[in-house]
Amino acid sequence: GSGWWGWGRRGGGGGCALARRGPRRGQCGGGPGSWWVSWGCRGDPTLRCSTSPGWRTRPENQRWTDGLEALATEIRACTACPLHRSARQAVPGEGSAESGILFLGEAPGYNEDLRGRPFVGAAGQLLDQLLAGIGLDRSKVFITNVVRHRPPENRDPLPDEVAACHVWFERHLAALRPAVIVTLGRHAMYKFFPGESITRVHGKPRRKDGLVIFPVFHP
Ligand code: URA
Repeated sequence: GSGWWGWGRRGGGGGCALARRGPRRGQCGGGPGSWWVSWGCRGDPTLRCSTSPGWRTRPENQRWTDGLEALATEIRACTACPLHRSARQAVPGEGSAESGILFLGEAPGYNEDLRGRPFVGAAGQLLDQLLAGIGLDRSKVFITNVVRHRPPENRDPLPDEVAACHVWFERHLAALRPAVIVTLGRHAMYKFFPGESITRVHGKPRRKDGLVIFPVFHP
């Protein structure tokens, strides 16, 4: 059904790991500083997400997942910016169109560079927990980054690198047709709302260029 979701951190210290809000309400008593995750219908039919079982296997949805592996192969061969020289390998992204949710992180780190997969380090463990808290796992969402090669010493991606990598974002959009793009952190949010403050925009779905963007904090 139509829905929205997000997470945040309550002000202050301590508390439980996950809590749900919305129709599947299940607060876990998190105090200040705890993470919350929410997935709920806000009655806006234009913010639609395809979370129904079997979504991916229906013939009309099959085409969104076809070609993802071919696209990954193209990304692994990308030399459009200098990052491919220092990185061990590309991290094209992984998952499916099943939930209609595309997660956009910042850049591969040490572990991602080593394994060629997104969010497999500490941030990835938290992301997995947050997804589990709303009844999803990474096979049902698609996860990728603003840049697909690790920047040296995990520095911030440079504007030229983000620009060079934009073509792969476009290709993933065309393949996945996500209902919602969840931007993880500042750099992914800047792609859509340059100059905005993450603390001001996080947790609020907004439309941009025909897309629904849901900025949240980086796990
Ligand atoms: N942080 C990111 O932004 N992306 C990853 O793939 C891993 C950690």
